[in-house]
Amino acid sequence: MTTSKRRYHITTFGCQMNKADSERMAGVLEDMGFEWSEDPNHANVILYNTCTIRDNAEQKVYSYLGRQAKRKHENPDLTLIVAGCVAQQEGEALLRRVPELDLVMGPQHANRLQDLLQQVFDGNQVVATEQVHIMEDITKPRRDSTVTAWVNVIYGCNERCTYCVVPNVRGVEQSRTPEAIRADIIELSQQGYKEVTLLGQNIDAYGRDLPGVTPEGRNLHTLTDLLYYVHDVPGIERIRFATSHPRYFTERLIKACAELPKVCEHFHIPFQSGDNEVLKLMARGYTHEKYRRIIDTIRQYMPDASISADAIVGFPTETEAQFENTLKLAGDIGFDLLNTAAYSPRPGTPAAVWDSQLSEETKSDRLQRLNHLVNIKAAERSQRYMGRIEEVLVEDQNPKDKTQVMGRIRGNRLTFFAGDIKELKGKSVKVRITEVRPFSLTGEPVALCGMKK
Ligand code: SAH
Ligand code: SF4
Ligand code: F3S
Repeated sequence: MTTSKRRYHITTFGCQMNKADSERMAGVLEDMGFEWSEDPNHANVILYNTCTIRDNAEQKVYSYLGRQAKRKHENPDLTLIVAGCVAQQEGEALLRRVPELDLVMGPQHANRLQDLLQQVFDGNQVVATEQVHIMEDITKPRRDSTVTAWVNVIYGCNERCTYCVVPNVRGVEQSRTPEAIRADIIELSQQGYKEVTLLGQNIDAYGRDLPGVTPEGRNLHTLTDLLYYVHDVPGIERIRFATSHPRYFTERLIKACAELPKVCEHFHIPFQSGDNEVLKLMARGYTHEKYRRIIDTIRQYMPDASISADAIVGFPTETEAQFENTLKLAGDIGFDLLNTAAYSPRPGTPAAVWDSQLSEETKSDRLQRLNHLVNIKAAERSQRYMGRIEEVLVEDQNPKDKTQVMGRIRGNRLTFFAGDIKELKGKSVKVRITEVRPFSLTGEPVALCGMKK
């Protein structure tokens, strides 16, 4: 083996938080002199950044790992890393299951990858899963896009939804300071980025752990204040944020979004269930009436706002009538996008051991019925764009049609139109929508938008 060309490969599973962590870990590896290898079979360091939100997400990791563990027998120089939420959940147990592993590291350790790898290169098998305070890091992430970027705002989750592993694997909430966040965004703008997405499991809970209160007794630092604080960074044209929890979504935040021109009119606010009894058992801390009021208020201020959400079907004890309340909520609101999932019992969560689990058959039947409705509603919602002129921020070439470019409208639907990526990447283009599908659009360019500050 030559050491001159050290290559790494990262496969990322799961949510945007994991994608952002992977970009940071890739930055660390590049700083250490590794080069990206698209093909894991040509890499000396393979990192799986894993997800354990549902059982099928976790199983996928084991099948990938199995293949590389075999390869390691022929190639002992190969370094195998499991990072992310499966690593945190399983810890040492992962080493027993896959003894070929060199490093098991939880999500809070992403910024420490260099140190941990050094220990591996010194001949150790390393497990890093203790709860730590996440350090501000100075490494430059290797970002997938040159147009849009993630910005971590709050790590962890302080909720205790009875189905969810996230608090176990991501730890307690840690908000970054407004100054650190703004500094990141300024740097991104200097590198030419046009859009930032502020990230957190419950982004609207931002700032609760930061010191200071206003004279009225409100937290000094909230997502609303943060949006005002970062809004004027020149060059950044769009600001998004995800994921929002209904419990913390205030009218003050809605007003700010309506008032601040860069904040896009798209809100991802999972409701999980449309039934109050189920919501209570899930420990979500709101009713379907409260959820509806939030959406009504958003639509009062921003009638055209896109609304997306997550929902779970087949939670333990869910009756047919309760499931129908979820259908009713999905039908009444008319989501632009709804991520649906059948409930999956997760180790270490309260609901997993309740004896009122539903059959796989019932769960998959409900999932299909909900998905059917979701498609109909999304198609209806897409209709409003027909013939309209929308602003598209161009991100890439359409991989399926090289004569087209693609990007998102402010409302977040992916939109395709004819154009040359070399000319248009990172540009905002006014596009007349000529074709609509439930989750994407096609159009023709009308004009390049003026330079914005
Ligand atoms: N913090 C966000 C969601 C994070 S997890 C929130 O509270 O809304 C992403 C989604 O995975 C959740 O919204 C939920 O719909 C789904 N999910 C989480 N645990 C699940 C489980 N055990 N089974 C099925 N879906 C689950
Ligand atoms: Fe999981 Fe609930 Fe936290 Fe969301 S708010 S990450 S669903 S525990
Ligand atoms: Fe999965 Fe971890 Fe995200 S469990 S959904 S990768 S926080």
